Amino acid sequence: MTTLVSQRAREIKPFLVMEVLEAAQCLERNGVDVVHMEVGEPGFETPAPIRQAAITAMQAGETHYTHSRGVRRLRIAIAEWHRRKYRTEIDPDCVVVVSGTSPAMLLVFMALCETGSEIIIADPCYACYPQLITFAGGVPVTVRTTAQTGFHPDREAISRAITSRTRAVLINSPSNPCGTVIDPAELARLAELGLFVVSDEIYHGLVYGERAHSIREYTDHSAVVNGFSKLYAMTGWRLGYLIAPPDVVRAVQKMQQNFFISACHFAQTAAITALSEECDSYVQEMIDEYGRRRDLVIAGLERIGIAVASEPRGAFYVFADVRRHCERVKCSSYQLAFDILNQAHVAVTPGSDFGPGGEGYLRLSYAAEYERLEEGLQRLGKYFG
Ligand SMILES: Cc1ncc(COP(=O)(O)O)c(C=O)c1O
Repeated sequence: MTTLVSQRAREIKPFLVMEVLEAAQCLERNGVDVVHMEVGEPGFETPAPIRQAAITAMQAGETHYTHSRGVRRLRIAIAEWHRRKYRTEIDPDCVVVVSGTSPAMLLVFMALCETGSEIIIADPCYACYPQLITFAGGVPVTVRTTAQTGFHPDREAISRAITSRTRAVLINSPSNPCGTVIDPAELARLAELGLFVVSDEIYHGLVYGERAHSIREYTDHSAVVNGFSKLYAMTGWRLGYLIAPPDVVRAVQKMQQNFFISACHFAQTAAITALSEECDSYVQEMIDEYGRRRDLVIAGLERIGIAVASEPRGAFYVFADVRRHCERVKCSSYQLAFDILNQAHVAVTPGSDFGPGGEGYLRLSYAAEYERLEEGLQRLGKYFG
C-alpha cells in the first residue's frame, strides 16, 4: 500500500501519556470521573502579574515578529536570572528564545547532528528525546540506568557509550519520569569528560530541598534548554529558550528564521515579568504546594505497598515500582496502566513510555490538586488491595 507519509514520519512513536489522556477523556465523555495522574501539566493558573503583563503588552501593540533570537530585554532577563540562581555569566547574545523547550531541543539537535551522529541518553528518559534526536538525523544511544543512580547515567556508563560518532550527552535533572536530581559532584565529573552536554533544565526551580545545579556552573561546552511551562505554569504559552556557544546559537538562529521566524511577541514580554523578583512569591507558593502533594503521594503509595523507585526530589513525578505486581499478574506496564484506568478510573503513565528501562514501573504525576490526588490514592489502594 502506498502512502504520502515519509518513512521517518511513519516511524515516529506515539507519546503514550497522550494516549492514556485521550482514553481517559473518552471515559469522561461517558460520564466517568477520572483522576488525572498521568500528564505533567501544572495544576495552577499562570501567576496574575504574568497574565497582566501579557494583556498590557498586547494592548500596547506588541503583536509583531520579534528579533529571531528573541526580544533583547528578555534575553537580558534570562541572563540575569541565571546570575541570580546559579552565579553564572551568560551572554544575552548566546540565548535564543523559541516557542517552548521542545522546539529548543529539536533545533539544538538539528544544529549538532550529522546523519548518524550519536547522542547519549538515559534509559528511562523523557519519552520525546529519542524522537527529537532521530528526526534531527541523529541516533539516540541509550545507557541503561538503575534506581541506585536515580536513573541518571553515571560517568563510567557514559564513557563506555562514547564512540567516534558521539556528538553530545543529554541530561535531565530534575528528571522526568523520576523526579530525581543529579548531585553537583556527579555534574562536575560529567563535565570533566569533555563531551558536549545538552542539559534539559525545564524542571529547575521545582525542587524540594536543595537546589538543582545548572550545567553552566561546570562547563561552557554545553547547551541549556529551558522554558516557562513548568515553573511558571505557562504550558499553553509555548515559550522556551536555548543557551549555547556562539556557533550553535547562530545555526539555531538561522533555522528559527526559516522555520518559525520568532517566538510570540507579547508572551516574551510577559516572560520578563515571570523572571523578575515580583513573581518569586507566586512561584514559591506553587513549590510549597507541590511539596505537600509529593509527600502525600509518597506516603499514599507506601501505604498501598508500592515502592517509589528512587526518592523524587524535584519536578512533579513519582516513578512507582510495580514490577512484582506485573510479574504476578503477567502484564506489561502498558496493560496495567490501561487496566487501572478502566477499573479504578485513575489515569497513570506506563513506564514503558520512557524506554525499555521503564518497563515494570508507572509514572504518577502529582501536579493535580491535593484533593484529587487523595481520591486517586484511595482508588489505587482499592485496586491493588
Ligand atoms: C523533560 C521535559 N523536557 C521538555 C518538556 C517540554 O516542555 P515545553 O512545554 O517547554 O515544550 C517536557 C514536558 O513535559 C519535559 O517533561
